[in-house]
Amino acid sequence: MSLTVTRVLPADATAAALRADVTEGLTRTPKHLPPKWFYDARGSALFDRITTLPEYYPTRAEREILRARAAEIAAATGARTLVELGSGSSDKTRHLIRALPTLETYLPVDVSETALTAAGRALLADHPGLTVHALVADFQRGLTLPAAPGPRLLAFLGSTIGNLLPGERAAFLKSVHAMLSPGDALLLGTDLVKDERTLLAAYDDAEGVTAAFDKNVLSVLNRELGADFDPSAFTHVALWDAEREWIEMRLRARKELSVKIPALDLVIGFEEGEEIRTEVSAKFREEGVRAELAAAGLTLHRWWTDTAGRFALSLSVREE
Ligand code: SAH
Ligand code: TRP
Repeated sequence: MSLTVTRVLPADATAAALRADVTEGLTRTPKHLPPKWFYDARGSALFDRITTLPEYYPTRAEREILRARAAEIAAATGARTLVELGSGSSDKTRHLIRALPTLETYLPVDVSETALTAAGRALLADHPGLTVHALVADFQRGLTLPAAPGPRLLAFLGSTIGNLLPGERAAFLKSVHAMLSPGDALLLGTDLVKDERTLLAAYDDAEGVTAAFDKNVLSVLNRELGADFDPSAFTHVALWDAEREWIEMRLRARKELSVKIPALDLVIGFEEGEEIRTEVSAKFREEGVRAELAAAGLTLHRWWTDTAGRFALSLSVREE
């Protein structure tokens, strides 16, 4: 049994990236922050709570598809290595791991070291023969995977692809193509366009867990950059952009205020009602997914949805 955790990015590179992102995002209008900074230990724990909320259907819908299709995915890919980007708790991934008799190596990749370590330990307890090599890395920054036996299956679940902006998505899918060898496969989870009420509830739950998750990014800036954000001075807002077909999460200042960020030598002013965009969550349609994959050199072979038609899992292949 073996678990290794490798930090691909040195801690100071992560700190430099945070400083650059915050400087760029908070000094322009409208203000925005990239979503990867949500996921410190508390953020990862809050996200795990989101996945169990009655309003947050994507996790249950994707799990239903994985349960129903794991054997088919295993037969179609015969994977000896499973790579998973943004693996988090790796909880749903267990359905795949259990169904893949040929699997030797699992390579989870995440920015959250706490999530990776906990997930790796829990998995090894149930699969003592598996080699788990966890990578603390940013999947948007030209990731090079360690050597591992093919065929490889690369999983990107939870509709995390929807948290990338369209241009970032295209660049990301090209990098996925580069990580795969001919014949390797991509298993992609995408949440689907549906009625606005269902969508908004999933990103603004009654218990306020999503609001706490959204505001956690401010606590990360307080801790890492010595900022003095008062999270209670902001309101969590979720809205549906019908034209771009994405949910936007924002933090809205309740009153005019200013925030000091000593590590960046910055003072950021907010007008009353001014917002920071903290996340987009794009919703997809089959033809759009097929076209985006094709543009990156990946051919969509299978498209499965849950019985209620809320979420899709697709299997694509790098042809040459
Ligand atoms: N796959 C899990 C978790 C989804 S939440 C599920 O389906 O439930 C998104 C995960 O991606 C988090 O664990 C977060 O830490 C990770 N993540 C977000 N941006 C990332 C990035 N740029 N590089 C690596 N991991 C990232
Ligand atoms: N990939 C998830 C999604 O888009 C991430 C997520 C769920 C999320 N709930 C959130 C991100 C709330 C920010 C805030 O569904």
